Amino acid sequence: MYINRIIYGITALLLVACTHPYEPDVANTWNVNVELSFTDPEFWPENQQIRVGLFTEESSRNPMVSKAINQPESNEPFQISISDVEEGDYTAQVYITENGIYKVSLSALNHLSIYSDTMEKTDAIQLITFNRVQKQVLNNCVVCHGSSAGDIAADLNLTQGYSYENLVGITSYKRPEMVRVYAGSAEFSYLIHVLNEDINFNHAASSSASDEDIQLVMEWIEEGALDN
Ligand code: HEC
Repeated sequence: MYINRIIYGITALLLVACTHPYEPDVANTWNVNVELSFTDPEFWPENQQIRVGLFTEESSRNPMVSKAINQPESNEPFQISISDVEEGDYTAQVYITENGIYKVSLSALNHLSIYSDTMEKTDAIQLITFNRVQKQVLNNCVVCHGSSAGDIAADLNLTQGYSYENLVGITSYKRPEMVRVYAGSAEFSYLIHVLNEDINFNHAASSSASDEDIQLVMEWIEEGALDN
């Protein structure tokens, strides 16, 4: 009799256990695809990565999740996929990192509410970086400002690797009351007056810069003249 009761008891317990399987308390996770494109991928800063990060209100400095890729190969749109994103509300940012360290923000995406697999697109991103300023504009000046042989005009070396420290925050040789590049203000930056061929600045050579070049350099200065 007792044996029977014990067997019934064990069977009943097993039945209860089987119909109520253990459910771990894990939040749902989703895939987030972000489609990006860049107008000028050839000006991608060397050794740097594009990163898409998802930030929450509590974590506005470090992303909850992020994913990085290397230089885009063309200006065709491409996707960055982030998997296993816990559901919730996020703001997304596209930014540049170097060795995992934040360098510069490129674009802010919409507020994302992730409660299912999500797809997001950005407008084509223009790269306003010093790397681009160098390749697009300053490389045209090195005949006088720092070629292999001879003097460097105005002691201003504009070759890659030297130009940044020769420009940003450096007092002008010709007009000591001005700065060659004044971070944050194009107007106070001697460089812009040279590129604009401003008559009052009477530069030794005519500027080869196009309107687009000047716009690029102005925006780079206004955004803080970062070494990016
Ligand atoms: C043909 C030679 C030549 C070329 C090319 C040239 N420069 Fe110059 N640059 C000079 C000389 C010489 C000076 C010093 C005298 C003067 O300002 O005219 C100078 C002065 C400057 C100054 C002022 C430096 C200071 O501290 O006062 C800036 C800024 C400058 N150049 C930028 C550029 C940029 C940017 C380019 C390319 C778009 C360029 N230059 C191309 C010869 C040249």
